[in-house]
Amino acid sequence: MSISSSMSSSELCSMLFPALACSTTLSFPLFLTLLLLISVFTFWLVPGGLAWSLSSSNNNNKKTTTPIPGPSGFPVLGLVFAFTDSLTHRVLAKLSHVFNAKPLMAFSVGFTRFIISSSPDTAKDILNSSAFADRPVKESAYELLFHRAMGFAPFGEYWRNLRRISATHLFSPRRIAASGEFRLSIGATMVRQIKSLMTMEKNKNDGDGVVEVRQVLHFASLNNVMMTVFGKSYEFGEGDCDGNEVEELVKEGYDLLGVFNWSDHFPLLGWLDLQGVRKRCRNLVERVNVFVGNIILEHRIKRGGDNKTVDEGSSDFVDVLLDLEKENKLQHSDMVAVLWEMIFRGTDTVAILLEWILARMVLHPEIQAKAQAEIDSVVGYTRTVTDGDLPNLPYVRAIVKETLRMHPPGPLLSWARLAIHDTQIGHHFIPAGTTAMVNMWAITHDHEIWCDPQEFNPERFMHEKEDAPNIMGSDLRLAPFGAGRRVCPGKAMGLAIVELWLAMLLQCFEWAPSSSGVDLSECLKLSLEMKSSLLSKAIPRHTCILQESTLALPFSFTFSEK
Ligand code: HEM
Repeated sequence: MSISSSMSSSELCSMLFPALACSTTLSFPLFLTLLLLISVFTFWLVPGGLAWSLSSSNNNNKKTTTPIPGPSGFPVLGLVFAFTDSLTHRVLAKLSHVFNAKPLMAFSVGFTRFIISSSPDTAKDILNSSAFADRPVKESAYELLFHRAMGFAPFGEYWRNLRRISATHLFSPRRIAASGEFRLSIGATMVRQIKSLMTMEKNKNDGDGVVEVRQVLHFASLNNVMMTVFGKSYEFGEGDCDGNEVEELVKEGYDLLGVFNWSDHFPLLGWLDLQGVRKRCRNLVERVNVFVGNIILEHRIKRGGDNKTVDEGSSDFVDVLLDLEKENKLQHSDMVAVLWEMIFRGTDTVAILLEWILARMVLHPEIQAKAQAEIDSVVGYTRTVTDGDLPNLPYVRAIVKETLRMHPPGPLLSWARLAIHDTQIGHHFIPAGTTAMVNMWAITHDHEIWCDPQEFNPERFMHEKEDAPNIMGSDLRLAPFGAGRRVCPGKAMGLAIVELWLAMLLQCFEWAPSSSGVDLSECLKLSLEMKSSLLSKAIPRHTCILQESTLALPFSFTFSEK
């Protein structure tokens, strides 16, 4: 018989809290309140907090497993405030250190159970395990239909199909090489644009010729993805309605996917939609459907009424998906989601990484000069750097790797993983439905793994350094693209873009500080951005032979003066 059933509530109350027993009228409600408080605190005091305490009762393997260390956080809320902060990766890295929980730390955010690894070994266990091959789908991702796109689709046949066709038709080395020409064109447009911005700034009220490159990089990157995926480029700025529409859609999508949504962790708040996320998502989806739907329609018309297959040379990713639709493997709404997701994945990562690299170039003139000397000696003074030069520019490539180490665009590997079924990591039991994260930022800044991790030193990636890690996912000391089944499929394409454009920007300009210097403060949204955009001088170098006539430039951007 339980204690509560053998005693009256007032007897129990007087036994547990004798001081309160004098008032019989107050004792019962007070007793209930205290009982509630005690249960909340008992739950809360479990390592990892409330969500873990609610799940641990289901663990039948208790005897053979050990609890995962971790902070309880605030009662009920757990570590909510780590996620509403813009430096979540740093807060979590510090907590893993304090709780001696680098291999694995447990925590709760409301009713969501999390684990996070800040060490290469357990990170590998998570990312390479088929048990963590799903992703948690936040409300915004679901409402934006991303659960039908590759990044959020559940592990299974549909997802495997999307991976396979994108690996063949979008991300294969042959496809990446074939898109070299328009990558170069967009790079050339960017150079022209920066030159004219510098001139404009210099002429303006005796300005000192300082440029803000963020917007130039963003538009270039967006156009590159649009061209790769939709076979279309845009003129952003005044006059191009389609360009402006795509820019607005992308911006709204980033905001929605990046925002911390309380409903994701407190199901009761879900139906209230207090932050208006669902409403905004639904408005956005309507606009996206019209925009992407029109592009798909243009492709259908191009292919002819009977939806003929187009030959590979003139096809883009929309054509590839239309072929799948013919085979009944994909519906129209799936196609919209798949195409739309590529824009989100491919645009900001590239642009943000390039901005961090340029900031580092401004801060380290000796490293910049060394890269420029390498470019000059390999490319000479009579032509523009191209894809073919990149294998001979190891120092430029080392700069990209070192920036990925110091400023990984996805410090928490962007979008987390989800345990599909109950599993174990080492001696720790992980229940199905647990969200698993890897703190790549903590790993790449760990003194026990990296020598002088706070120092920006591309030399550590030069060929002769034998233990320099491969960054493509096989070595978890530096895996900015993730690892395992859901590793970034766009990693080779992303690197091809960043390396070429960086080489072009260094060949054509000397990057010098503005009077306000360089602010390296971070802000984690969907990706890890510079909090204040980079302001610097881009002084044309004598080696810059890129003239209007050097390349055919089908792309252009229009910027309004600020
Ligand atoms: C510097 C550039 C990039 C970085 C740092 C980056 C980083 C990442 C990371 C960390 C993940 C999660 C991996 C994991 O869970 O293990 C990811 C997934 C993904 N990335 Fe990238 N990415 C970049 C460029 C691109 C580009 C250019 C595209 C496509 C145009 C792309 C498409 C994707 C997709 C579709 C996924 C989801 C894959 C899946 O769940 O199966 N990424 N990326």
